This record gives sequence, structure tokens and C-alpha cells, in this order.
Amino acid sequence: MLKDYEQLIYEQIERMVDTFINTEHLTKMDFIKKAFFSAFDLIQEAEKGSYYELMEGYYRPIVSKGYRQDLLMQLKFKEEESFMDYVCDDIINIKSYSQYVETRSNTQFSDEMIELFKGLGTYEPFYTMYAPVIVDKKMLGIICLDNFKEKPFSDLSLKILKFYAQMISNFYTLLLAKEKEVKNNQEIVMALVSAIEINDVYTKGHGRRVQYFSTELAKALNLSKDEISDISTAALLHDVGKIGISKEILNKPDKLTDDEYDIIKLHPTYTKQILENISNFQQVVNYAYCHHEYYNGKGYPRGLKGDEIPLGAQIIMISDVYDALTDDRAYRKAFTKVKAIEMIRDNSGKMFDPSIVDVAIDVFTRNEKNYILK
Ligand SMILES: [Fe+2]
Ligand SMILES: [Fe+2]
Repeated sequence: MLKDYEQLIYEQIERMVDTFINTEHLTKMDFIKKAFFSAFDLIQEAEKGSYYELMEGYYRPIVSKGYRQDLLMQLKFKEEESFMDYVCDDIINIKSYSQYVETRSNTQFSDEMIELFKGLGTYEPFYTMYAPVIVDKKMLGIICLDNFKEKPFSDLSLKILKFYAQMISNFYTLLLAKEKEVKNNQEIVMALVSAIEINDVYTKGHGRRVQYFSTELAKALNLSKDEISDISTAALLHDVGKIGISKEILNKPDKLTDDEYDIIKLHPTYTKQILENISNFQQVVNYAYCHHEYYNGKGYPRGLKGDEIPLGAQIIMISDVYDALTDDRAYRKAFTKVKAIEMIRDNSGKMFDPSIVDVAIDVFTRNEKNYILK
């Protein structure tokens, strides 16, 4: 008997721990559902419950258990009129509260609301327990659990709910910081794209076209969402290091001397130096830095070979070469699409990893070069 009880406790602890590990890839909704149902499971007095989120000035239920969905979803509470007392300065000070709701004062709620309470069963007396979700002194959500069997919530249940509210607050905080960082990075990226295009007339639009082909190729190779996103950004910025190369060399109409070519070869290193200062760009830097490495080891700057070259960089490289071949250069006219594809096929196993060449050619054939980006 004791064994069963112990087993149950272990299972509950395991579920609780599972809720809060490996959360980084969860969407906000998935995380809230996971946390809400886990709290509901652990708190024995909970019979029904709901989680409200602040949306456009109202707290609205987004997850619930036990209540009639069609009725619950009609509930909304004005931000400035609701739950004001529970706001606190930081996550550590979040508290949980329990209350016995004996009567709903008729003056406080509209007739419509009272009808809703009646339908939901919350016009009758019940015990309720709730805890706010706080970020930057603002209440972004509230988790509520209810009991209709005259059973008050224990101190342990209050502690558990407080813990969950703090964890959800933490999740929101991290998520908002991440969103802010992504937005800041996007602004930096767009500023860098403008800088590239001002510096080098021949590569105007080149970054965007390489981004387009690389993203299509990464999708065709079934890469993950995060990998596609990093490849896309790296492709857009792969030549940003050309800012550090003189315009005379970049736009020279004649053949480059060996010394000038050595200077051009510095641009992936400059790209790395510029991008490595942006937070969370490790993978983007890695892909962009390697975009002139060849499969046979004869590329630059490091002469990496085969699998040493990250797949993201190989994707950008083949797209870069295709775009360069089909574009006018200072020293030559664009090759036709057919000729460019033939040249790419000839370089399979030399410049390019043979395992991506067929898929890449398929992507280039299917997608017309987008001349709007010229
Ligand atoms: Fe380049
Ligand atoms: Fe390029």
C-alpha cells in the first residue's frame, strides 16, 4: 500500500519536473497548457479551473478544465477593473490566494455576466484559489483552480500554485526577452543590408537573392525551422564583410591581380568579425564565415573539406555561386540559366557536396530568379 503511495508521489514529481525542463522549443500556448494541466493534476482539491491571459485590455480564458467551453470563452474582465490587488514587483514576491466565494454581488456584474456564472456553476458558493503571472510589475495572466465540494485548498496546494505561477512568469519573461532580442537583431540586419548595398553596386540585391535560394534549398532538404532561420539570415549577410574591401577592388572592371584577389578573400573573415558581436548569432556567423569553402578543400579562408563545412554554409555557397553566375559582373555578362546549371553540375564533388547538388538544381530550376530584387 505504502509502495503504491510512494509510486504515486514519484510519478507526480516526475510530471512536475517534466513540465519545466526542455521548454525552450515550446510555444507559449503549449507551455501554458502543460503547466496548467500539471498544476491541476497535482492539486487534489482542484475540480475545475481556468487560465486567463491579458489580451487587448481584457483578461480572457485561454485554457480550462471542467467548465463548459462555450460559456467560459464568453467571459472577459477589464484589465483596470480586475485582479488589481495581486500585482507585485517581481516574480519572487508572487503569492497565491484562496477564497470562499459565497455570493456574487448583483451590483458588481451585469445581468449577462450573472447568467454566465449561473451556466458555469460559479453563481453557487465555491472555493477558489488563484495566483497571478507577473512580468515587469504587470499582470499578464492568472491561474485559477476551483472546488465545489466545500473543500478548502490546503497550504500545500497554495504553495504548489504559487510555484507554478512563478514558473509561468519566468517563461513569459524569457519569451519577451527573446522576442525583443529577435526584433533588435532584425533591425541590425536591415542596417547591415543597406550598408552592403551602398558599398558595392554589383552585389545590390545579391544578398536577398542568395537568401531566397538558400531558404528554398534548406526547406527542400527538410531542415529544422531554427536551421532554416539561421541559414536565411546568414545568406542575407554572407558578404557583409565586403564593407571592409575598397570599392575600387570590388567594382574593378578588369581582371583582379593576385594581390587584389588576396584582399577580396579577406571578406568572409570580415563578415565573421562584424557578425560575431550580435547576440545569439553563433550559427549565423559559422555559416556566413564558411561560404567560400569548397567541398574538395580548395576554398578559403581555412580550406575546410567535405563534412568539415557546415551544411548551412554549403547551401549558401551553391546558391551564391548560382546567383553570381546568372548575374552581370563588372568584368563579364551573366551566363544563361541553362549554362549556369551545367557549370554547377560540373562542380559536383569539387566545389559542392554531391548530396545537395541535385536538390539545389531542382530548386534553381523551379524558382525563377526574382528580378524584383535586382
Ligand atoms: Fe562572398
Ligand atoms: Fe556572395
